[in-house]
Amino acid sequence: MQKVTRFIYLGFLLAGSACHDIERSRSVDNPAVAGKTIALQVCSNCHGVNGVSVSPTFPKLAGQRQEYLVDQLTDFKTHARTDPNAKRFMWGFTHLTEAQIDDLAAYFSSQPADLGEAGDRALVNEGKVIFTSGLPDKGVAACVSCHGQHGEGMNRFPRLAGQHADYVEKQLEIFQHTEDRPRGEVMKAVCANMSERDMRAVAAFVEAFPPEAEAAASPPADQ
Ligand code: HEC
Ligand code: HEC
Repeated sequence: MQKVTRFIYLGFLLAGSACHDIERSRSVDNPAVAGKTIALQVCSNCHGVNGVSVSPTFPKLAGQRQEYLVDQLTDFKTHARTDPNAKRFMWGFTHLTEAQIDDLAAYFSSQPADLGEAGDRALVNEGKVIFTSGLPDKGVAACVSCHGQHGEGMNRFPRLAGQHADYVEKQLEIFQHTEDRPRGEVMKAVCANMSERDMRAVAAFVEAFPPEAEAAASPPADQ
């Protein structure tokens, strides 16, 4: 009984001191705080310690391209990326220095990417065709040509493989209908004629990036 009390007391003390540290380094307006510390203590609350977020409101950052992360953090900082969720959750980080942004991008880009589960097989297969071949009839370019064979991205072209499908679909809607993303010109052209079904399908495919679907040489028979 006494042991238990002492254990609880110790736990309380430890929790108390951890909170204190978090509060201290939460002042991200301090340019002396290392990017990695900010990543672990602040960004992790929404994006996960390793950049693998749980909720699709919060994009996964694990394995994302470093250059792309720098671009986006700069756009949030300057309030150039204007989605309501960007305003609500990301606009506060105006005090990040260039060095901190570089550190944060280096940290998250070096974390192992995490693929999601493949859901509706027909939808995923439909999405795979869009990803690898585009939709020539609608002038939709093949995603593979910029986002890479395995959806891994390159430089300023973001990784898509593993990203939450709901987030991907939402970004496609944003590119198609709004000016909320200042670097979105290319994507506006790509998705101008995509239907909601096309967006959902390609989003379902990239989240899981199932190896069997990738290996299948031809489109599904019902196409
Ligand atoms: C309170 C929750 C929250 C915190 C804390 C937070 N983010 Fe975000 N972050 C979001 C949301 C929500 C979005 C999506 C914004 C949108 O939909 O436009 C986002 C988007 C991003 C993106 C864009 C990703 C992409 O695929 O385009 C990056 C990069 C990012 N956050 C990095 C960070 C970093 C680095 C930190 C720590 C300094 C951080 N975030 C802290 C909620 C948060
Ligand atoms: C010609 C090159 C090109 C092609 C083809 C292309 N993209 Fe992109 N895509 C980009 C660039 C560049 C960005 C980054 C835009 C920015 O920084 O806001 C991007 C961003 C995205 C994003 C936002 C990612 C995030 O984390 O917020 C999604 C989703 C996306 N593309 C999906 C697709 C899909 C699906 C296709 C195929 C139908 C496709 N893209 C084809 C160049 C391309």
